Amino acid sequence: MKVDIITVVPDLLSSPFSHSILKRASDKGLLKVNTINLRDHTTYSRAQVDDYPFGGGAGMVIMIEPLVNAIEALQKNTAYDEVIFLTPDGETFNQKIANTLSLKENLLLICGHYKGIDQRFRDHFITKEISIGDYVLSGGELAAAVVVDAIGRLIPGVLNDETSALTDSFQDNLLAPPVYTRPEIFRGWKVPEILMSGNHKLIDEWRHQEAVNRTKERRSDLLD
Ligand code: ADE
Repeated sequence: MKVDIITVVPDLLSSPFSHSILKRASDKGLLKVNTINLRDHTTYSRAQVDDYPFGGGAGMVIMIEPLVNAIEALQKNTAYDEVIFLTPDGETFNQKIANTLSLKENLLLICGHYKGIDQRFRDHFITKEISIGDYVLSGGELAAAVVVDAIGRLIPGVLNDETSALTDSFQDNLLAPPVYTRPEIFRGWKVPEILMSGNHKLIDEWRHQEAVNRTKERRSDLLD
């Protein structure tokens, strides 16, 4: 999968994909993330990409021209499956959207900044708008990192043991059960005995029940 990200702050995206599972994904050639600096696509002086909103009001708006220049330059080489704008008024991101996007070949992510981007760009170029939650970030970059992280680990072949994504929280609308590792007893706190039994059928049943209990307690909305 190739993910291109248009941003005015490329530095914010230099580290998130260079570690851990996403690094492995890129080392294996399964994920390639490119950042594109929007300022490289403006014809305005001093690399200006934003301007005051028509009609007045606080904040600046990213202009349509540099965005169109950037996307049209990229589209010469790539046919995108989705052009995604990260925005607090988008559809709330979840595991189902991550699963769907993880099967795509080419994604283009657009990070907003300031008060947002000119609506005409949204109307004519964006195919999907995603929010990572009901709060406002300074820009879309951290949201883009979250989305690429969630998608990247799901790309077939990225995780060593593919079942480990299948047992993630949310994959079957259940939160994940608790996990334990050595030592078996710490300060008198014992690991549940069933996990030491070696009986994998009983362990699976116990884990499923714990997942159900935890989901009922914490996120009963998932069970509806
Ligand atoms: N940009 C600013 N806030 C955001 C959010 N909550 N989700 C996605 N993009 C954003």
